[in-house]
Amino acid sequence: MTEWFLCMDSENPSPEKRLEGKKILLGITGSIAAYKSVYLCRFLVKEGAEVRIIMTPSATQFVRPVTFATLSKNPVRISLAENDEWSDHVEWGLWSDAFLIAPLTANTLAKMATGMADNMLLATYLSCRSKIIVAPAMDLDMWHHPATCQNLETILSRGVMLIDVVDGELASGLQGPGRMAEPEDILEYTVKLFSNNKPLQGKSVLVTAGPTRESIDPVRYLTNHSSGKMGFALANALADAGASVQLVHGPVDEEFRLNSSIKKHPVVSAEEMLTACNYLYEKIDIAIFAAAVSDYKPEEFTMQKIKKEDGNTLVLRLKKNPDIAAELGKIKKNKLHIGFALETENEIENARKKLQTKKFDMVVLNSLADEGSGFGYDTNKVTFVEQNNILHLELKPKAEVAKDIVNYIVKKL
Ligand code: C5P
Repeated sequence: MTEWFLCMDSENPSPEKRLEGKKILLGITGSIAAYKSVYLCRFLVKEGAEVRIIMTPSATQFVRPVTFATLSKNPVRISLAENDEWSDHVEWGLWSDAFLIAPLTANTLAKMATGMADNMLLATYLSCRSKIIVAPAMDLDMWHHPATCQNLETILSRGVMLIDVVDGELASGLQGPGRMAEPEDILEYTVKLFSNNKPLQGKSVLVTAGPTRESIDPVRYLTNHSSGKMGFALANALADAGASVQLVHGPVDEEFRLNSSIKKHPVVSAEEMLTACNYLYEKIDIAIFAAAVSDYKPEEFTMQKIKKEDGNTLVLRLKKNPDIAAELGKIKKNKLHIGFALETENEIENARKKLQTKKFDMVVLNSLADEGSGFGYDTNKVTFVEQNNILHLELKPKAEVAKDIVNYIVKKL
């Protein structure tokens, strides 16, 4: 035991305590990679973090709770009720600055995606308000299974952060992706998360998101399939990078987990969206137009419900809505404008036209032809189009696309 401690300490000398004062909840699920979390726990403590541990019952088959209790100097929680006493999962969730689940099994991932709460770790996850980071570990076929991919996309779209699996030898003897990241790398990710290095600190960003809704009569409206996922993911990524974010969004169905610093401005129609954007525009440095604004609205709003009449057709006259991006483009001066384009043909050419007509500095192009891309999906396959540059990105969760856009902005500034 002594030798083992000596070995770990000498491997990771840490002169300054980079997590001093941080409260970290470390969740451990039933994977062989749980042994690496013993090191992780020790590293976090050595960096000055206060660490509390929650294990799933199956995790205790891999590492004994007493190991973690000793290293964290705190009792380990496993069940929702222990010794006939209820354990307060809400309190632990609220206490933490970050909830790090490492390793995360396919089983716990599936339960997180569906909102199950049949153990202490899951109940805490559901009531946790702090940053949630997961480091999955599983066999490569489990990792590639469509169910796992979908579950991962679901939790990432809700704001959970991912420390990706790494390639290598797996417990099964197979070779491939599925190994949990090394504890040293998880530690560095966590330190970075809390570091004050916020590249967009001091910048104010306007983001438009979601669809707009154009009323026809008191009960009907025109809209589109936009879910708002991309725009909300962008708002979160920008806020995580230190930007002050004004999110003007149309009606969305999903309750997105949003960084608490983001200022939300819910609107319904394109006219309302333009009014809100005009109001906010003067004080912002960057504008990102991710909303799917209705191009047209009914020429007239009919005060009474339109009645069904004889005959097979009904003519509804539409008129053009304002183009928010183009309107603000006219007064942009040196602000950075990024737009989105969803094209079905001549994609690059059409995206380039928008650079000019709407005065965008860059267009994030996505094509409905790409599987997993576009409305409603948690993933997106995009191309960054500038006047003289094109960058094709692979299919990835929208939260990751959002980070790529943030990185683009940081480089541009
Ligand atoms: O012309 P199109 O609708 O393809 O342009 C898409 C881009 O323009 C997106 O960035 C979208 O948010 C923005 N847009 C807008 N107001 C409109 C239509 C589109 O801001 N009325």
